[in-house]
Amino acid sequence: MANGLTMDLAASSESLALMSVLGVTVRFGGILALDGIEFDVARGQICGLIGPNGAGKTTLFNCMNRLYHYQSGDILFEGQSIKATPTHQVARLGMGRTFQNLAIFRSMPVRDNVLVGAHSRSFCGFLSSALRLPRVQAEERRLRERADEIMDYLGLSPFRDRLVGDLPFGTQKRVELGRALAADPKLLMLDEPAAGLNHEELDALAQLIRDLRDRLKITVLLVEHHMSLVMGVSDHIVVLNFGRKIAEGPPGLIQSHPDVIEAYLGAQSARTAHPQAADPRPAALDYGTGGSHGQVA
Ligand SMILES: Nc1ncnc2c1ncn2[C@@H]1O[C@H](COP(=O)(O)OP(=O)(O)O)[C@@H](O)[C@H]1O
Ligand SMILES: [Mg+2]
Repeated sequence: MANGLTMDLAASSESLALMSVLGVTVRFGGILALDGIEFDVARGQICGLIGPNGAGKTTLFNCMNRLYHYQSGDILFEGQSIKATPTHQVARLGMGRTFQNLAIFRSMPVRDNVLVGAHSRSFCGFLSSALRLPRVQAEERRLRERADEIMDYLGLSPFRDRLVGDLPFGTQKRVELGRALAADPKLLMLDEPAAGLNHEELDALAQLIRDLRDRLKITVLLVEHHMSLVMGVSDHIVVLNFGRKIAEGPPGLIQSHPDVIEAYLGAQSARTAHPQAADPRPAALDYGTGGSHGQVA
């Protein structure tokens, strides 16, 4: 009985964290880009990851999808270490990602870009694909249907045959999101999805992120500088500065956390002193009122 209870508790805590970051450290020569970062992303959560430029957010994403090697610590996805997982197999585990600098094929039509994502989770081998075996043809049909569903969902169907490079920036970003969604991720990692979007597109993005979680049951890890967006949609926020975690907690607590305010104001005054380093993004840390302090790392 006691054993059964212990096992149940172990199973439920394991299923709660979809991803666990355990003391991840990354050095580039003399730069300590990530210094012992620890946090969990719970299943079903929208988790914001914020911090001034150079804080290490993209580096952490690159560790999560195995583009970068971490020198110490580990990352668990569904309780399993991803240390030995090659980059091309990360999508199969159920991790999807968009990039700060769009990763799309500009000279290809929208539909083919979305199909690339669907293929990244296809299980048909090289030989059966080359021989066009019947099960490959059935799989191909299924992937095309999946790509069509994703384009409908994102409002991309009218542009399906257009070359991505000919479309407005906001639409290109949605194509990249479509590519990531077509692989049916359990965890979607978005690196600055709001950058360069207009007001209307921003509102639509906030609704979309909530809908991805609520209806499609996708857990979201969101790197974003647009504070009203990240504070408005996140359940939980992790703050990095100079490679260290300086705070984590719910948005209300993070907005009034003195170390977070200091980190952002420090970055802002550095930009004022060195206008050539001015940040063109539509960022504004919109501090709310009240609330006690979040957990200090
Ligand atoms: N491939 C790399 N080689 C050397 N330094 C890097 C590399 N990638 C990131 N860095 C450095 O790591 C730090 C964190 O960068 P980054 O993760 O891009 O920050 P953020 O996404 O929070 O703005 C910065 O000092 C950056 O210059
Ligand atoms: Mg970045």
